[in-house]
Amino acid sequence: MSDAPSTLPLRAWVDAWDDANHTFYTHHAPEQHFRTSIDAGTATARRIAALLAPPPQHPHEHPRPAPRSSLPRCIVDIGSGSGALLTQLAALVDDEVTLIGVDVRPRPDDLPAAIGWRQVRVTRDIEDITGRDGLITGLVIAHEFLDDVACPVVELDDDLRPRIVQVEAATGTEVLGPDLADPAAEALLGGISPSEARAWLDHWWPATKPLARREVGLPRDLLWRRLTRILASGHAIAVDYAHRLDDRRLGLWDGGTVKGFVDGSACRPRPDGSVNITSHVALDSCASPHATVRSQFDVLSTSAVGSRSLASWPPDLGSFDWLIEPCTPTPATQALSETMVG
Ligand SMILES: C[S@@+](CC[C@H](N)C(=O)[O-])C[C@H]1O[C@@H](n2cnc3c(N)ncnc32)[C@H](O)[C@@H]1O
Repeated sequence: MSDAPSTLPLRAWVDAWDDANHTFYTHHAPEQHFRTSIDAGTATARRIAALLAPPPQHPHEHPRPAPRSSLPRCIVDIGSGSGALLTQLAALVDDEVTLIGVDVRPRPDDLPAAIGWRQVRVTRDIEDITGRDGLITGLVIAHEFLDDVACPVVELDDDLRPRIVQVEAATGTEVLGPDLADPAAEALLGGISPSEARAWLDHWWPATKPLARREVGLPRDLLWRRLTRILASGHAIAVDYAHRLDDRRLGLWDGGTVKGFVDGSACRPRPDGSVNITSHVALDSCASPHATVRSQFDVLSTSAVGSRSLASWPPDLGSFDWLIEPCTPTPATQALSETMVG
């Protein structure tokens, strides 16, 4: 990568990535370009449906129901794409549960009428995602959504200082920009401060060796926290390509994980809107202390509703992680036992 002054029209990766995915999804339906585990069967939907709390008991069975139990029960799918997951869930949950797809794309033509749709560009600052945020109970799902959320990209220099990587959108050509201590860094981090970026890196992806690359996951942590506030109670569930702190510390992900994806294959990440830009998610940094992060294999294989076989699944999909987060301040031990119920 060049370290010399450049004449290229350079942008910070985080800004170029954000615009590129918005342009990409404005023009392309995700199902035209990638298969996810939703397309491989109903195991994911059945596991998710099992996490939905049962309806509140009838008043004469439970004379003093807690106020929360009267809230409408909803399943909100963020980055719903074709709505395939909600369509599967509609067959698995009782009729009183409201299903809502949220996506930057318009409502799919063939989505069953009973499923609601909100065409919204979700950001960490958005005020109301569902139109009823904080007034509903149930589940929020982010299935292969967080990996699309743009992050600052940094590379460690010879002194192990994180330098912001800049990119020319039309070609994907990269140039090393300022380090986080340089005042110029402030404008190149997509709205997080250099000190926040530095603290995230020190804690979640510490320095290893020169040339190592990292995606600063803080924008995803902040967006995830926003998503968990949609519900007054219930669970938020993120399923995605992920990496974990122990492996990051060992340098196993030092090449960085930013990829382009188009027409079913990985490609050079060129943030011009012609390909989807994605990177693995540090789900452990998104998680609150009450949440659990487990492998997809573990979640599905220890569950009575699990898949009989992953043989028909596309490569890699068995290696996803699931973040399951209780949306109330539930004691950690209770949250853990809830997520272990098959
Ligand atoms: C990789 S697709 C996943 C689709 C589906 N959840 C699945 O797993 O099959 C990501 C979806 O998120 C949507 N999306 C990406 N960024 C978004 C944003 N900021 N706000 C709302 N939707 C977004 C895209 O339009 C796309 O439908």
